[in-house]
Amino acid sequence: MSRFAYVNGRYAPFRDAKIHVEDRGYQFADGVYEVCEVRGGRLIDERRHLERLQRSLKEIRIPLPMSARALGIVLREVVSRNRVGYGIVYLQITRGVARRDHAFPSPQTPPSIVVTARSLSMARNEALVEKGIAVVSVPDNRWGRVDIKTIGLLPNVLARQEAIDRGARDAWFVDKDGTVMEATSANAWIVTPARVLVTRHADHAILRGITRSVVFDAIKATTLSVEERAFTLEEAYGAREAFITSASQIVLPVIRIDGHAVGDGKPGPVATALRRAFHRYAEVS
Ligand code: PDD
Repeated sequence: MSRFAYVNGRYAPFRDAKIHVEDRGYQFADGVYEVCEVRGGRLIDERRHLERLQRSLKEIRIPLPMSARALGIVLREVVSRNRVGYGIVYLQITRGVARRDHAFPSPQTPPSIVVTARSLSMARNEALVEKGIAVVSVPDNRWGRVDIKTIGLLPNVLARQEAIDRGARDAWFVDKDGTVMEATSANAWIVTPARVLVTRHADHAILRGITRSVVFDAIKATTLSVEERAFTLEEAYGAREAFITSASQIVLPVIRIDGHAVGDGKPGPVATALRRAFHRYAEVS
């Protein structure tokens, strides 16, 4: 089946979906993005993703090119044209097309908008969840504002590839004090030996994940306690469980960190329960 993308006001088959060579996203990574899960053809947590998109745009001073409502219509149209039942929808907005110059182009330059969607295999994702994944730690060499969901992801790309080259599935960024920040495209969590859930506080040094926020809501309905604080790699090695959260994987157990088995080396009950509970707390639209 041919895939369709939305590009600057048009729905086009992939082969015709083109971006200008002087798009600032292409030349400077001057843009932001969002990824939403799609289930049963519907969007998961659209409102929160679009709110975060607006915040990211504001932080880098790109005007919102169309209302959140209009963007929602485009997202749905792309999901439907690509017949995505289960998968993801991707939305990217850049500062538009202008002669290459680092400074902002004239305020009349329209931002560029691209939306794509693709199906994922639920069976493959579930198989991954049942097995859990291995991660390796890498030094956090990203810029100081990774709370903004920018398309400039080179450190994340290199870290993910390093993880694969080292036989793992993902990498955890660790700062110079040895504390874990987050994964390359997900937030990082541990369950301590005392059964306390821990994830790093969200400031400018990590992305405040939407999945992370919904998992907080899911935890509130349990007897588990949760702490938002820095945790070290050492603490993670000794954790009872570990997992990562993101829109595309929801809750994905981590069973090895730098070759150390986490707990008994199998996906744990807390991660599994939170994954099962997740969609009761997410918004579907
Ligand atoms: N990534 N941290 C980083 C660095 C991320 O890129 C993401 C999301 C998250 C989790 O955020 P959320 O729960 O809102 O998806 C945390 C998306 C899925 C991606 O880049 O594909």
